[in-house]
Amino acid sequence: MPDKVPEDVVELLDQHGQSHLCGWWNDCTHPERESLIAQIRQIDFDLIGRLVAEHVKSGKTKADDRGERAESPKRLERLARTPDEKAAQVSAHARGLEALSKGKVAAMVVAGGQGSRLGFDQPKGMFPIGPLTGKTLFQLHFEQLEALTTQAGRRIPYLIMTSEATDAETKAYLEENDYFGASLHDVYIFKQGWLPAVDPDGKILMADKSTVAASPDGHGGMLKALKRAGLLDILTDQGIEHVYYHQVDNPTAILCDPTLIGLHEKHRSEMTTKVVAKASAEEKMGVVVDVDGRTQIIEYSDLSPEQQAATDEDGELKLWAGNTAIHVFSRPFLERVTAEGADLPYHLAHKKVGYFDQDSGHVVTPEEPNAYKFEQFIFDALPEAENALVVEADRAREFNPVKNAEGGDSPATAKAALNRIAAEWVAEAGGRVNEGVTVEISPLYARDEETLASKVSPGTIFKEDTVLEPEEEGS
Ligand code: UTP
Repeated sequence: MPDKVPEDVVELLDQHGQSHLCGWWNDCTHPERESLIAQIRQIDFDLIGRLVAEHVKSGKTKADDRGERAESPKRLERLARTPDEKAAQVSAHARGLEALSKGKVAAMVVAGGQGSRLGFDQPKGMFPIGPLTGKTLFQLHFEQLEALTTQAGRRIPYLIMTSEATDAETKAYLEENDYFGASLHDVYIFKQGWLPAVDPDGKILMADKSTVAASPDGHGGMLKALKRAGLLDILTDQGIEHVYYHQVDNPTAILCDPTLIGLHEKHRSEMTTKVVAKASAEEKMGVVVDVDGRTQIIEYSDLSPEQQAATDEDGELKLWAGNTAIHVFSRPFLERVTAEGADLPYHLAHKKVGYFDQDSGHVVTPEEPNAYKFEQFIFDALPEAENALVVEADRAREFNPVKNAEGGDSPATAKAALNRIAAEWVAEAGGRVNEGVTVEISPLYARDEETLASKVSPGTIFKEDTVLEPEEEGS
């Protein structure tokens, strides 16, 4: 590394008004200089300039008039209530299982987020959530996939998206745990990109004298990351037709739900989304809607309180369909949207970001939001789908994410949900879990109530905390 900042980098920074990035060059060691130059070369300064001009400096709040025209989605499968609807779901389940058995399905989890609301200092997938065992979110997901692989008799590739913030720890953790038994060649870990945080003047912030304050580019960064990693070609070679997407933070998400896959196939959908009924008009949840005939998702912050509270002639919420962030993508659809440049819109977030103060040379921890971050959201691909399908799920059973340290959507509510679901399955099997007792069911023991009913005899009473796991081989 030369002693001076390379000429082209000086020019680039100068041209974009970002020369402060090398302001402490003389105090950096050689490896720090090397790393700083490598980071600078990765920044798309034109893009940052455009985003700052469009979002930060314009002073305009995003013009989003979609809320006025939004309607409940039309291509919709609601929860099955009548015998005919239930029969249709049973046949969709069989169809989905067949697709799994034929090796047409891959699973994908996005696990690159910084989990700032949870305040856990490791990747969120490593958060212990098993009520008795403390199994992590990752372990529960791997166990579900393993159980389904056994049922379908066919391996299910698992794509895991990490970020600069989570990659090294996630890899080390999964390696240490032998990928929880999944065969190694079925796990593909790929890393999403990052973008620098900027101050209100559009100056890129530094985390220390040689490190740019970077954050992952949002779960929508998945499209570019898939392309960079060449994963779509690998999936094509393997004959994968559907990619089942979920987020790392919901321990009750049903991975590769055969019914959802079956419905997705039956309707020839390009992108299918599981929704749940919003708990209240005010609930901070994105909603799946139709606008001008295209299915799409609008964030709650882009809807006025009146739009959120509007009801139909039956007094039901008009915009009721909360997004669970579970999707099935058809692989050709993913290919199409990535070939088109994966150019999803960017969203702006105003956040507290610790930064290196160029004048004092100290790191400042702000009390109030001081910085802007830019993120892409995968659900913005939805309006590109020619055929989009929306499927309603039972909220209590399937949507219990871990977002916050306390209160709603926290570890406490997710663990309580796992307890409640276990007790319900036992009750359906004709047994009972006594008040105050916790039963934790390993997905390897039973991944659904039918399997549990085949293993727990009617009349069984759980009087003390119990973990239901498959018996160790040979015991
Ligand atoms: P959230 O939007 O809830 O963000 O992510 P988060 O990072 O987990 O938490 P906060 O907002 O900082 O508190 C939903 C899902 O999308 C993934 C997360 O890992 C989680 O599974 N995600 C989010 C990414 O993979 N990359 C990102 O850049 C952002």
